[in-house]
Amino acid sequence: MTTATFDEQWQAVQALADDMPSIGELFLADEAAGQHRGEKFSRQAPFMLMDFAKQCLDERALTSLLSLAKQADLSNKIKDLMSGSRVNDSENRPALHTALRLPKGETLMVNGVDVVALVHDSLAKADSLATRLRTGVWRGFSGKAITDVVNVGVGGSDLGPLMAVRALAQYRSTDIDVHFVSNMDGTHMENLLRHLNPETTVFVLASKSFGTVDTFSNARTALDWLMRFTTKDVALRRHFIGLSANPAKMTAWGIHPDNQLEFWEWVGGRFSMWSVIGFTVMVAIGTENFTAMLEGAHQMDRHFADTPLENNVPVLLGLLAVWNATFLKISGHTVLPYDGRLKFLPSYLTQLEMESNGKSVKRDGKAVTYPTCPILWGEVGSNAQHAFYQLLHQGTQRVSCDFIACVRRYDKDGKALTHQQDLALSNCLAQSRVMAFGNKAVGDDDTNPFRQYRGNQPSTTILLDSLTPESLGALVALYEHKVYVASVLWGINPFDQWGVEMGKQMAEVVYDALHAAITPAFDASTDLLLETIKRAK
Ligand code: F6P
Repeated sequence: MTTATFDEQWQAVQALADDMPSIGELFLADEAAGQHRGEKFSRQAPFMLMDFAKQCLDERALTSLLSLAKQADLSNKIKDLMSGSRVNDSENRPALHTALRLPKGETLMVNGVDVVALVHDSLAKADSLATRLRTGVWRGFSGKAITDVVNVGVGGSDLGPLMAVRALAQYRSTDIDVHFVSNMDGTHMENLLRHLNPETTVFVLASKSFGTVDTFSNARTALDWLMRFTTKDVALRRHFIGLSANPAKMTAWGIHPDNQLEFWEWVGGRFSMWSVIGFTVMVAIGTENFTAMLEGAHQMDRHFADTPLENNVPVLLGLLAVWNATFLKISGHTVLPYDGRLKFLPSYLTQLEMESNGKSVKRDGKAVTYPTCPILWGEVGSNAQHAFYQLLHQGTQRVSCDFIACVRRYDKDGKALTHQQDLALSNCLAQSRVMAFGNKAVGDDDTNPFRQYRGNQPSTTILLDSLTPESLGALVALYEHKVYVASVLWGINPFDQWGVEMGKQMAEVVYDALHAAITPAFDASTDLLLETIKRAK
């Protein structure tokens, strides 16, 4: 028998998807065959269990997807990613976020340079600055110790550290308050400055390019504010730290070399929280906990690199993403952590997934002929129940869901929390049942048309043992690898973001038009809006 080509295999998967029974029917079929669907469709990875039994697929579909992954040469593509091959081909560079969590002493040579040594030198400098802030050695212009550190960044230079600082708030081991400012319009900064003391505030300018207008409009506002109280030189020396892959630009902006923390072009912005972009995480939870987060991510990297595809949790999560979006044509995906500490995980994943795989052109420059990344959004599950679950249960769209919950939860002193935690866990499990089975989940045969729950919304549940720096690191690395796996099947480059550029260029042109004596003509709608704004100014 000859092996199917990638295209033939693709058609075979599609044929299975077209005939796939409902989730409820799949459970009944497995039960009738004496098979435990939960055991069949769950896998263990470091710090977590993934249960995908409530996905709308059977064993044949899974086997077929795994064959498709083999046809796509996934195992070698994983090696390419982790060994420093130029997997970001449109920008001709590697995407080496996994190198950021390689333990000290390991070696990874890329173009004759040991990147692990670079990474650990950079982390050591970050540790030294963070320690000076945390121990009160760093002093503001009037000689007082620092009480507030403000991360000024956007996208990958904001969402990762913000998500991690909030998720690991119980691990905070300093009196310093860490804040995040990202809005271009100045809302965050304006609200925050009212409460900050200029003598004791340090601004951390986080920007890979060190040129993003959003970040530098906020940075300018912060510098102007400080210059009301001290000189520019002193403000820059004592109140600004830079995190960037562009040291020349940091220097040009006025960041003193001692206050510069560097990373590299081969770290994608949305994959950069493990680099010095995570500096504010280090300030909040200390270097030891930050290192533990890296260690957790590294354990997931090892699982991803070493586990056969059929038991490889990131691989399976990626294949399920392709199955749902491409073959079942489900264009919405929602992430539902049943844990308030993970409030910012959905927005972090929104960038990670949609900026990476929101593409319609393959690596070879040809247009895709199938749906790629779905529209992704999410919210803390119990809040989302009172916001958008109505649509999930009774709307007209099919949506795939990721439920995320922690089995155990402790307070800051290590005491197990049970009452509210059990409530959250019960709601998580209950909702995934109703999503999958609809009315049948509760044996309800009510015929009232307003009380019909369709069910058949596919979901995966990720159960973390508990939320720690290690498990958070592993969870985020899981999603990074999921994104890569899906991109390999879709044949797209997940590491560039050309789609964001056009809007930035257009904004510059419109900004000039807003200030020009004679408004240039764009289009009937933009012209009207511009004239209205200019008349009102
Ligand atoms: O939104 C585009 C983008 O380039 C993201 O990929 C990146 O995370 C963000 O802007 C911020 O860029 P920088 O870190 O260079 O300021």
